[in-house]
Amino acid sequence: MPRLPFITFEGSEGCGKSTQVQRLAARLQRSGVPYLVTREPGGTPIGETIRELLQFAPHNSAMTPETEFLLFEASRSQLVREIIKPALERGVCVIADRFFDSTTVYQGAARKLNRKMVERLNAFAVGDCVPDITFVLDVDAGTAESRMEKPRKADRMEQQPAEFYERVREAYHELAKGEPNRIVLIDGSRNADEIESEIWKMLCSRFSALTTNPQS
Ligand code: TMP
Repeated sequence: MPRLPFITFEGSEGCGKSTQVQRLAARLQRSGVPYLVTREPGGTPIGETIRELLQFAPHNSAMTPETEFLLFEASRSQLVREIIKPALERGVCVIADRFFDSTTVYQGAARKLNRKMVERLNAFAVGDCVPDITFVLDVDAGTAESRMEKPRKADRMEQQPAEFYERVREAYHELAKGEPNRIVLIDGSRNADEIESEIWKMLCSRFSALTTNPQS
């Protein structure tokens, strides 16, 4: 019996990925497929402390790009070993709200850290735990802005200039071009129902283990 897939969701703030993560989880639940959802940064007690530090710590406005990069990798390496790998080995499908492509795009392309270093540390943090499929929800800046939860205080990562998010979007496009077998670029400007069914169709066609319903 083939193992259940490791699925990741990516995209810039306001792209609708968290909605699609929840909708996919609900589908798996209805189909009797065992699954778990993770988010980054976070997903473990250590990771959630790192998340707080990255987003809201009072002194974090002075955080250097290098520190930020290492904290994301630290959170991820904990999540992979504590949660994701053991779950996949137990035969559970894993849906991750962000994974190493976020670091490639945000710290590598948008913050302009050394690309090779980002690749090496990504590889070190995840080991052999690489996603089977990655959905990048692609939206333009205007759509993203209109979808951001309001009113609430923007966290540190959401206080970047417009060019930062343009670089994020471009970098996701480039990644998708470079790894067409793993990364699927989804037009995130459509309504959530359409996107959900496109994602589900693609998953069912690629991973037979999802439709053979392991618990029935
Ligand atoms: P989210 O909870 O809306 O997905 O936000 C997480 C923020 O952290 C978002 O601004 C992207 C950022 N981020 C990085 O910059 N690098 C990373 O490796 C990860 C996982 C997230």
